[in-house]
Amino acid sequence: MEVFEKRDEAEIRRINREQQKVFDRLFRLFDPPLPEGVPERLEQIVAAGRIKEGETVLDVGTGTGILIPLIWKYRPARIYACDLSEAMLEQLRKNHPRVIAFLADVRDLTLPDGCLDVVFINACYPNIVDKQGAFSNIARMMAPGARLVISHPMGRAFIDHLKKSISFPLDDFPERPAAEKILAAFGMRLETYVDEPELYILVGEKQGAD
Ligand SMILES: C[S@@+](CC[C@H](N)C(=O)[O-])C[C@H]1O[C@@H](n2cnc3c(N)ncnc32)[C@H](O)[C@@H]1O
Repeated sequence: MEVFEKRDEAEIRRINREQQKVFDRLFRLFDPPLPEGVPERLEQIVAAGRIKEGETVLDVGTGTGILIPLIWKYRPARIYACDLSEAMLEQLRKNHPRVIAFLADVRDLTLPDGCLDVVFINACYPNIVDKQGAFSNIARMMAPGARLVISHPMGRAFIDHLKKSISFPLDDFPERPAAEKILAAFGMRLETYVDEPELYILVGEKQGAD
């Protein structure tokens, strides 16, 4: 079932190229210090993934790897990360050499079926152009019982602010009923929904666990 508006393939590639160009220039924006309150909210976001020791985590649209040190605290076996921007990944590799990083749209990742226990999409959901392709591929790679955490540490209103200045389209974060529908279409159940002025967290759990 298609829950996302269909986009033409040429349009998907054009927007991704534009986005890549923008983030190749903007990577310094993500250097510390982060705005007040953001470090604490990022901790809340990572805690929502309930990472257990030895698990496998994917950080989608990782950027320079803001979540990575927080994820390592939970002692996962490995962290995979992907991003469209080479400049972002260069910083990520410098700062966090143990992360296995891919220069790729998440829809094209070829990790094995069911290999992921936790997937984070932090400050990146609005940017994913081919959401149908991205969510089908993420769901394929998630193990039964795996958690998908979609989040933003500045909340949904921040996206409205960004839309005024950015050269590519950004989608809104889903309201609760839409979130339930999206997750259900990809075999997930909504587990957590937080929509506060400066924090958005949506957690879906992949069904099929015993
Ligand atoms: C606003 S930045 C957020 C970076 C990081 N997650 C953080 O919280 O600081 C969004 C990132 O998502 C990446 N991105 C956008 N669409 C993507 C996609 N379909 N697959 C992988 N990365 C994507 C962009 O290149 C960019 O680096």
